[in-house]
Amino acid sequence: MWNVAILTSSDQGSAGRRVDTAGPLIKEAVKDLGTVVDYQLLSDDEEGLVTQLQTWVNGGIDLIMTTGGTGLGPRDNMPEATRRVISREIPGMSEAMRLESMKHTPFGMLSRGVCGQAQQSLIVNFPGSPKAVKELLPVILPVLDHALAIIHGQTDHKN
Ligand code: MTE
Repeated sequence: MWNVAILTSSDQGSAGRRVDTAGPLIKEAVKDLGTVVDYQLLSDDEEGLVTQLQTWVNGGIDLIMTTGGTGLGPRDNMPEATRRVISREIPGMSEAMRLESMKHTPFGMLSRGVCGQAQQSLIVNFPGSPKAVKELLPVILPVLDHALAIIHGQTDHKN
């Protein structure tokens, strides 16, 4: 079982003007994979996001799933925050997510979410809408255990 942390980036949510349903969806979905040890709902402020991500990475969290802030809005900062924390990007994961998104909406190409590795943590950016999270979890969930195992030095290859 892996340690998991979930981060929702939302000015509206953090101000109490919107209930976050995307974060709880992820929480429910990772039940079989690991234990959710932390969940934070933060504003879209880039510095706050970087601080939270870095704290989790330094604390040895295995998997960090984020939602929101991946679009083109002036306050969409999650990809920038994630890039400041990761040392290796995992383009295939975000490519697979956008490919799936395009099956559901042409706006899928507007999400700039990134996935990457920071020390022994894996960070995955989801778009903010619960609909997008529901559509993309099935793409990501099947590879997480193997991805985390490799990050932790278990080099047996699966077919
Ligand atoms: N991906 C999927 N699968 N389903 C969606 O409904 N919405 C898109 C896109 N990706 C969507 C999706 C939209 S409308 C936007 S603006 C971008 O994600 C960015 O969303 P975010 O800024 O909330 O992260």
